[in-house]
Amino acid sequence: MLGNFVYSNPTRLYFGDNAQQHLADALRPFGRKVLLTYGSGSIKRNGVYADVTAALAAAGKEVVELPGVMPNPTVDKLCEGAEAARRHNVDFILAVGGGSTIDYAKAVSVAAWHKGDAWEDFWIAQRDPQPGARILPVGAVLTMAGTGSEMNGGAVITHSGRRLKIGKVFGENVMPRFAVLNPRYTFSLPCRQMVSGIFDTMSHIMEQYFSGSDDNTSDYLAEGLMRSVIAASRVAIQDPKDYEARSNIMWTATWALNTLIGKGKSQDWNVHMIGQAIGAHTDAPHGLTLSGISTAYYRHVLPHATDKFARFARVVWDIPAEGKTAGQLAEEGIDALAAWISEIGAATEIASLGVTPSMLDDIARSTLIMPGGYKRIDHEEVIAILRESL
Ligand code: NZQ
Ligand code: ZN
Repeated sequence: MLGNFVYSNPTRLYFGDNAQQHLADALRPFGRKVLLTYGSGSIKRNGVYADVTAALAAAGKEVVELPGVMPNPTVDKLCEGAEAARRHNVDFILAVGGGSTIDYAKAVSVAAWHKGDAWEDFWIAQRDPQPGARILPVGAVLTMAGTGSEMNGGAVITHSGRRLKIGKVFGENVMPRFAVLNPRYTFSLPCRQMVSGIFDTMSHIMEQYFSGSDDNTSDYLAEGLMRSVIAASRVAIQDPKDYEARSNIMWTATWALNTLIGKGKSQDWNVHMIGQAIGAHTDAPHGLTLSGISTAYYRHVLPHATDKFARFARVVWDIPAEGKTAGQLAEEGIDALAAWISEIGAATEIASLGVTPSMLDDIARSTLIMPGGYKRIDHEEVIAILRESL
């Protein structure tokens, strides 16, 4: 295994049926005033809000509510949250929701007391908070599996006016202090969102897996996680209330992007960069922007890593290797990925997300190309991948 790294993850997880019973204790150490942030109200319909407010009361907290975090949270909403956190002088931020709400809480945590323009400094310039800067601690109650935001430092924010959707990966001081993961909380998700999260999980693993050529423990872990999410997805599509499948999806999603399987890997992330640009132009669900372009992207880079794609076919999809060249096997692996995208009902083409041919150049311009994968792509190649995905 090549590469030198530090591995540390400060997020304490409470996982399983009734995991919320730990919430009051988890909250206790973090001051008196809590900013409770959530989305458009699904938590009020599925009972999660009642559980959370009971725990906040049991822990003796004074609560300031900040609802209305939209999928793909915006800079304007970030400013509103930062101002509220400052005005009420909160000690802690509790995010209840999916990746958007948790990302948002992290963004507010660094922006609240930042002297300067948070969007320009953290997202455009990709700076880290100054040493000693006040960062509000964050906790999470997860209601949608997929992003891994519950155990990482990522926070993706969208500037609608500039058509930019940019992720900033913050350090341990911004990662959630704890996260409550009750798979049952995800049962009320609409199928489209469940599928979006499932594909997002698969994509996170592939983004890290499809890089490097050394024999790396991270790749073996990635293969196990991919096999798990594929198996669980097939059960969950048939029966969304299958606890075992939904719990495996939730746990896999967390491990797919909690920094472990990226260790010793250069990592690719261009599917995400293109997907985020599509999101900036269409506001489509994140995971579906990824499923829409993945097969075109991987067919594009396949000639530069045939052996790795052949291994993907063999180990992840159980495709027999006998009598085939590495190239044939590699193609069959991507065919299997494409078939699975259709099987689970994820987007197979970006036209279904509202992308039109006239948008391709602008979407490519919004794409921040990453250098870590098997092929360095340029603007024209991004357009070709988008066109292939229409
Ligand atoms: O608004 P609410 O009521 O919360 O409804 C949400 C929203 O409409 C709904 N939902 C969530 N849990 C539910 C539920 N509906 C019913 N029952 C439940 N239990 O689902 C919709 C989508 O939620 P959202 O949080 O937007 O989805 P997701 O978890 O996919 O998060 C997407 C955001 O995370 C970013 C994406 O770019 C996007 O902005 N990402 C964050 C990453 C990170 N922190 O590392 C990495 C990812 O690659 C991703 O980029
Ligand atoms: Zn993602």
